[in-house]
This record gives sequence, structure tokens and C-alpha cells, in this order.
Amino acid sequence: MIRFAPMTADLAKRATGRLAALAACSRPGPGVTRLPFTSEHRTALDLLTAQMKAAGLDVHIDAAGTLVGRLEGPPGAPTLLMGSHQDSVREGGAYDGIMGVVLPILALETLRDEGIQLPFAVEILAFADEEGVRFPTALIGSRALAGTVDPAVLDMTAADGVTLRDAMTGFGLEPDAIPDLARDPAGVLGFLETHIEQGPVLEAADVPLGVVTAICGIERHPVVLTGETGHAGTLPMEMRRDALVGAAALITEVDRLARATPGLIGTVGTIDVAPGAVNAVPRQVRTMIELRAPDDAVREAAGARLTAIAGNIAEARGLVLDMQRSYRQPATTCDPRLSDKLAAAVATVTGEDAPRLASGATHDAAAMADLCPVAMLFLRCKDGVSHRPEEFASAQDMALAVAVITAFLGSL
Ligand code: GLV
Ligand code: MN
Ligand code: MN
Repeated sequence: MIRFAPMTADLAKRATGRLAALAACSRPGPGVTRLPFTSEHRTALDLLTAQMKAAGLDVHIDAAGTLVGRLEGPPGAPTLLMGSHQDSVREGGAYDGIMGVVLPILALETLRDEGIQLPFAVEILAFADEEGVRFPTALIGSRALAGTVDPAVLDMTAADGVTLRDAMTGFGLEPDAIPDLARDPAGVLGFLETHIEQGPVLEAADVPLGVVTAICGIERHPVVLTGETGHAGTLPMEMRRDALVGAAALITEVDRLARATPGLIGTVGTIDVAPGAVNAVPRQVRTMIELRAPDDAVREAAGARLTAIAGNIAEARGLVLDMQRSYRQPATTCDPRLSDKLAAAVATVTGEDAPRLASGATHDAAAMADLCPVAMLFLRCKDGVSHRPEEFASAQDMALAVAVITAFLGSL
């Protein structure tokens, strides 16, 4: 095994400074709002490009908008992939996703500074869209590498009516070339994603780092309920076809089903009401049901059940229902061999065994598992909060993670 110098305070400082600069690539408002194929995305890629080049990587943006920084290996050697996503949720934190791009760059910088050459190539990837906040689909960059993008997603529209295809083209990308991005699995050693835990487990165990065992499955259903508007003072209650009252009944059912089904998580996080006047009966509601579970059968059954429930609610209230399933990513198990190597690297660096834990959040690693073995390193998350401006991982934990990534690279 290659031996590496211990982590330095300088590493912690560099990680914090870079993440602060990237957090400023955000729409104004609380926390970080950096949606894919926007000017904030562009400025973040400019910063990451400079970081990658400074680490000695060859950098390009692929047809799906993934920033790729490559460190060449010996001729014919396979490639290890590392990275995560650049995008955030609305009013999210400064660590979710982007930290998993910054820390591996620092790991490669460390290797370069120590004059260590790896017996394989490495690519660091900053995927454009993992959160699926702007479009009703997600994981386009990682799915492109795995060759699993359904071209129909390019016609999906954001709330402002722009299609994914047009947003990508406007960003200078070539969405029709996505099929050419699929990698040959024979040339890929694996994918390592480093990520904030987004939950309370590591903090409660008083340890900085953990190794992920599995990633939950997820599906999303855009729902449109259409009734009829009218004057809020004159339209009698028994004559109403109020879309918002129907949506309220459906949202309550999502919560009820998730509470009653072991392992099922259900959330409705967006709702648009038209015409949206205090004194007009709601004509139309657009909303999105999201379901997650570690067991795909549980999630699939819940999706089917809620589709039937939505139909019954619409019928009972005289509403027209349009409900699709726009996005689905099955649950994934992390690769035992790579995960054991990652756990060994954690033990080497911290002197303690790494807890193993499952992820209730979804990740690019789930899509990458269709291409290659995947492993995930989790960092302790302050108070377990994520998808909020308060999200926080400490500089010390980030420096430890960089040391673990370098040790992991040396063990492959
Ligand atoms: C991404 O963070 C997700 O789990 O939604
Ligand atoms: Mn994430
Ligand atoms: Mn997230």
C-alpha cells in the first residue's frame, strides 16, 4: 500500500475557502440556490475548472453538462471516477453535492504535492443535476455515463415552460450527443462519491466519517388537478369543483400512507395554484408527490396505490386528473469490495472503525451503479440538518475525508 503524509490544517482551510466561494455561486436569498443550466451553475463550473486545472487535471464539459477533470494514468490503465453534483435545492446548504467534488480535487492535489503517481487514471466529475428541482427528472449526468438516459426526458419542462433540451442547448451543451457518453464498464474501476450524511447518525455516534451500505429508491409523480374557478362569494359550496380541496385530500393521503407503511417516505414539497386569488375558487393545482423506500417493491406499490387514490379523489370531486411518474431510481447496494477498502482507509486515518449506514437521500452513485461498482463516504452533518441553509460539515472532518480519499486511492 502507498503511504501518505498526514492531513494538514492547510487542507482544512483550503476546503472551507473553496466551499465558501462556491456557495456564493447562488441566487440571492437564504442559503444556496444553484439550479442546473443557469448562470450560477456556470460560475460554479468556472471556479471548479480553475481548481481542477490547478490540481493538474485536463478539464472539459461533456454533452450532459458534467464537468470532467482527468488525471491521466499509465497507458491502457483503467479509470477511477470520483465526484458528486454541483446543484443545490432551493435555499439549500453549501455542502450537499459540491463538497463531493471539492474534496477529491484536494486529494489529487495532495498526491501531486507528494509526488505520488497512481497506477490508474482518475476523473473527477461535477454532475449538473442531481436534485431534480428544476425539471421533473434528475441524474442526467451520471445516467449519461451509465448509458441509461431515456431521451424522452429531454422534452420535460420546468415550471417556466423551458424544456430540458432547450435549457441544455442554451448552456452550450449537445443533448443529442448524450448517448455517445456511455462508458465501457471494462475501463472503469469504480465510482467514489463523498457526501455530507444529511442525517443525524454519525453525529450521534460521535464519529466524523461513515461508509454507506445502500441508497434508497425514489420516484416522483407530477400531478395536475383541474376543476373550475368562480367567485368565492357567490359560487355555492355544493356547485364547486375546487382543485385545491382535491389536492389537499391527496396530500393528506400521501402522508397517511407513508406513516402507515414501514420503510415508506412520502413528501409533497411543491404546489402551484391557479388562478391564485384569495377570492377565486382554485381552478387548477400543479403539485409533485415524491416517494422513497429502501425496498423497491414497497415504493412501487405505494406509487400505484396513490395513483388509484388520486383517481378516486378526482372522480368524487368532479376534477380532471393528470398524474405521471416522471422519475424513478431503484434502490442500490454499494459494492462490498470497494466499501471494505473505503472502511479500511477510514480506520487507517482515524484509528477507528467506520460505522456502516444506509442513505435515505438519493445520490448520483445510485445511477453510477449501473456502470460500475460504487462506494460512498459520508461526513458527519451538524444537527443532522440538510437541504437547509444551516447544513454544515466541519473543516476538520473535511480534512479527514481528504486523507481518507488519498488512502483509499493508494489501496486500489
Ligand atoms: C437529494 O439530496 C435527494 O435525496 O433528494
Ligand atoms: Mn446530494
Ligand atoms: Mn440534495
